[in-house]
Amino acid sequence: MSQLLSVRDLRVHFPTGRGGTIHAVDGVSFDIPRGQTLGIVGESGSGKTTTALAVMRLAPITSGKIDLDGIPISRIEGQELRRARPRFQMVFQDPFSSLNPRDRVGRIIRQPMDLLGLLQPPQRDARVEELLAQVGLRPELKSLYPHQFSGGQRQRIGLARALATKPDLIVFDEPVSALDVAVQAQVLNLIRRLQRETGLTYLFISHDLGVVRHVCDEIAVMYLGRIVEKASAARIFASPRHPYTQALIAAAPSLAPEHRRRGGGARLQGDPPSPVNLPPGCPFASRCPIAVNDCRSRVPTLRELAPGQAVACHLA
Ligand SMILES: Nc1ncnc2c1ncn2[C@@H]1O[C@H](COP(=O)(O)OP(=O)(O)O)[C@@H](O)[C@H]1O
Ligand code: SF4
Ligand SMILES: [Mg+2]
Repeated sequence: MSQLLSVRDLRVHFPTGRGGTIHAVDGVSFDIPRGQTLGIVGESGSGKTTTALAVMRLAPITSGKIDLDGIPISRIEGQELRRARPRFQMVFQDPFSSLNPRDRVGRIIRQPMDLLGLLQPPQRDARVEELLAQVGLRPELKSLYPHQFSGGQRQRIGLARALATKPDLIVFDEPVSALDVAVQAQVLNLIRRLQRETGLTYLFISHDLGVVRHVCDEIAVMYLGRIVEKASAARIFASPRHPYTQALIAAAPSLAPEHRRRGGGARLQGDPPSPVNLPPGCPFASRCPIAVNDCRSRVPTLRELAPGQAVACHLA
């Protein structure tokens, strides 16, 4: 299968100001085949947004490699990066702060085309109307301002803006987390329909397993900047192997009870340790219900347990 996006050993470290280092993303690797969706799940602080921003070249990359359809996007700068920009776009979490309140919706959707010099200027307005229709909004709404729309409609506008450059990849960071459950389903349906119609590739981030379940082909579970389990969506829910994945499934409010039971009895207790001073062994050891001594001294690496299922746990 041809991989559209390939991420290898990505690290994003931030200095704390007191001489320490925040390991926000700490050696993450994944591939996304063209036309498919990879989900990244994990609790708040696990490094999901930073991973997304690094892929978008909006966070500083400490080390590692990101390739998009053969373009080394982690290494290009200036003009070259600008030329590659139309090919990867992002939809942000907060529909209320990600659209400039002073711009009319038509201008918001047009802006990526203006900035990147796509299409002849007179054609851009026609394209805006097309994009509005594509996300299920009436074209005449282009002259309104963001505050005149609901949260769900604003995410549709964000999606139209992302589509404006005809990207290959769209990165979604918690695109429905701020929306009511009923509206979530509508926006998720739209996201899936657009993929079916256009063959787009998605990186889809959410803390909610119930949301990624219906959108993703493959799922990567992140904890403290690392991927601890990766498998097809079907497999993650049918036979989660990492104690952290099991605990997330057991605790997911939006999953049906039969899935939650498959998570086993494990309950997540306490908070993750600080990403500044990581403990020496398994990063999950302080919260793991089955930890043994070995776990506190040896770091488990991600290894393939079944075809397409990789787990970082000594006991899996
Ligand atoms: N710009 C930054 N400077 C310093 N620390 C950051 C920065 N961005 C994120 N972090 C830290 O990196 C870790 C991962 O954050 P984030 O990627 O936002 O996680 P998530 O999206 O999974 O909640 C957190 O500990 C967060 O405080
Ligand atoms: S390596 Fe040990 S502490 Fe880490 S998840 Fe596995 S059993 Fe738990
Ligand atoms: Mg986040």
